[in-house]
Amino acid sequence: MKLWQRAKFVELKSLNGNTIKGQKIRLREKKLSDVRNDYQWQMDPELSELDAATTLDVSFSAYLLDYSSHVHHKDRHRFPLAIETLEGKHIGNCTCYDINFGKAEAQVGIMIGDKDYWGKGYGADVINTLVDHIYNNSSFSRLYLKTLDWNKRAQKCFSKCGFTQYSTLRRDGYTFLLMELKREDWEKRKSS
Ligand SMILES: CC(C)(COP(=O)(O)OP(=O)(O)OC[C@H]1O[C@@H](n2cnc3c(N)ncnc32)[C@H](O)[C@@H]1OP(=O)(O)O)[C@@H](O)C(=O)NCCC(=O)NCCS
Repeated sequence: MKLWQRAKFVELKSLNGNTIKGQKIRLREKKLSDVRNDYQWQMDPELSELDAATTLDVSFSAYLLDYSSHVHHKDRHRFPLAIETLEGKHIGNCTCYDINFGKAEAQVGIMIGDKDYWGKGYGADVINTLVDHIYNNSSFSRLYLKTLDWNKRAQKCFSKCGFTQYSTLRRDGYTFLLMELKREDWEKRKSS
């Protein structure tokens, strides 16, 4: 019997120091030494704009205080991971979050902070690797994401990975495309 067919919901488990390997990247749990990169990326107006987020406006020491409590806090509704190249360079982050056990669904998000790695297939590899890990190791039946309507690079990346648009969302003056990849469609892609 497959994991997702069991009566009891199978949750994602901590990686316990292991990594999830893709073709060009590997995913690992967040660690305190990611703080410099994460601070720099959250201070970057271009990255904030692409994510419809507010650019950070706090000192590094204040950020660090908050960061260490987040890194050590485990939350079963949120599964944040760092993206590394196969050589071990931290280039961004991805997350499985808004986990809804009742609906067996969750949202995924990605940010490659190091712009040298944009448009070279890293994003698609991250999404494919993350989605495969989630569907292979849990009972989720649907993964979805949202992206700004003008973020064409992100949309192309997600489409390449099998996500399709199912709706739009207007919020705080932004328009988002909502995209999803259901388990059954992921399985069809895997077997084709
Ligand atoms: C969005 C993001 C994850 C995509 O990862 P990536 O490694 O850059 O994407 P990929 O190279 O896998 O795929 C991008 C595709 O879009 C294409 N593309 C790039 N710019 C484009 C544009 N302006 N319009 C249309 N297509 C574009 C690329 O050619 C590529 O398609 P191809 O493989 O057929 O050539 C990454 O760029 C990123 O993190 N950007 C900053 C933050 C962000 O936008 N996050 C997403 C928030 S929802």
